[in-house]
Amino acid sequence: MTTTHHESPNPLSELSPQDLREHAARTLAGARARSVALTDAVDDDDLTRQHSKLMSPLVWDLAHIGSQEEIWLVRDVGHREPVRPDIDDLYDAFQHPRADRPALPLLGPAEARAYVGEVRSKALDVLERAPLEGRALTETAFAFGMIAQHEQQHDETMLATHQLRHGEPVLRADPPPPRRIGAVTPEVVVPAGTFVMGTSVEPWALDNERPAHEVHVDGFAIDTFPVTNGQYQAFLDAGGYAERRWWSAAGWAYRHEHDITAPRFWRREPDGWWRSRFGVHEPVPADEPVLHVSFHEAEAYASWAGKRLPTEPEWEKAARYDPATGRSLRYPWGDGEPTPEHANLGQRHLCPAVVGAYPQGASPLGVHQLIGDVWEWTSSDFAPYPGFAAFPYREYSEVFYGPEYKVLRGGSFGTDAVAIRGTFRNWDYPIRRQIFSGFRCARDLRPDEGGGA
Ligand code: AVJ
Ligand code: FE
Repeated sequence: MTTTHHESPNPLSELSPQDLREHAARTLAGARARSVALTDAVDDDDLTRQHSKLMSPLVWDLAHIGSQEEIWLVRDVGHREPVRPDIDDLYDAFQHPRADRPALPLLGPAEARAYVGEVRSKALDVLERAPLEGRALTETAFAFGMIAQHEQQHDETMLATHQLRHGEPVLRADPPPPRRIGAVTPEVVVPAGTFVMGTSVEPWALDNERPAHEVHVDGFAIDTFPVTNGQYQAFLDAGGYAERRWWSAAGWAYRHEHDITAPRFWRREPDGWWRSRFGVHEPVPADEPVLHVSFHEAEAYASWAGKRLPTEPEWEKAARYDPATGRSLRYPWGDGEPTPEHANLGQRHLCPAVVGAYPQGASPLGVHQLIGDVWEWTSSDFAPYPGFAAFPYREYSEVFYGPEYKVLRGGSFGTDAVAIRGTFRNWDYPIRRQIFSGFRCARDLRPDEGGGA
């Protein structure tokens, strides 16, 4: 291929500087409203306690959000005096593992709230006055978008902490929409060929999504929907957790070491499987995508089903490739920002929607619910794209590249729209399942499907 511009342009690039500043301010405000709601939902004791060794106390996340905002927007972009230089170390994620954070001399709830408020007012002042042109960090308000995404990422982490917390429900949301389409084929064939993966034009894309590059992908089939609880339960009922042959060596060792027998938060009752969800106990709904499974469980299910997990390029091609134009779209449904009709995002609902609930969010090839609902495990290690350059700091992506982490794609019901794109890459250890993780399967084509060429 000779053409290199096979990516959709981004509307942010067209905004006037004033509109861009207003857009950035609104996006920061949206993130803050969510952080406030998640932290105001519980009392001070709950904010400072550790609900799981896997998670920070909520009050750590809150002040860490402020600390990152101070470092990047107030000090770096704004060249302002530090607000609290004395607490940089406390809120440096690399200095203190999550398990150790409760023992640190952290800011208390009142102090943390005052701190993030003070930092925000300074950051907004910087947003009004600082020149945006002439520096990569501020071009198209990147640093402000990065900090809004960072806050939303921690909001999703705080939502996962809420899920681990014991006690009465404190979060509320409307139920997600029902199925809104009839029967569809269970799999979609993605034709062999190159497509543009990653992005060089999305202004708020993070470093690991860059640059755009052409990738050849062999023809393959991918599930139309994420794997549902009902499908996953068939694997359980078939004794899938007891059969060595479905599991990798690492998966089998993990399954035994942690005595894993079902997805996290599931419980066997006399009348079937129940789950706990933000303090509510309820029967596991058969048609929702399975949630809270590790990479190892996803991989074992796929082997049992005679399939495999998609690779990361396969997932992105299924999500972005438009066969009519050869272009890679910003989202499966096209280039427009996510709306509530496209995808279950932003904690608008407190669970995934049933499969078939978002026909308007389908990709051109007809793959559904790639964005929102559940993060989807891929079979790929987290690795840099050719031409990757760390920006603006190595600790966002670069230090995590390597075989210990697997890539997840697509975002969950707990991911905000600003923190997800067709190109967005998440990663975690293959044993993790307190995150809002699910998966879909893929498979090679049979010769009669065009796969033997
Ligand atoms: C991209 C979700 C893996 O939470 O560890 C937050 C995001 N980076 N603060 C994480 C992040 C720095 C990151 N993940
Ligand atoms: Fe962080």
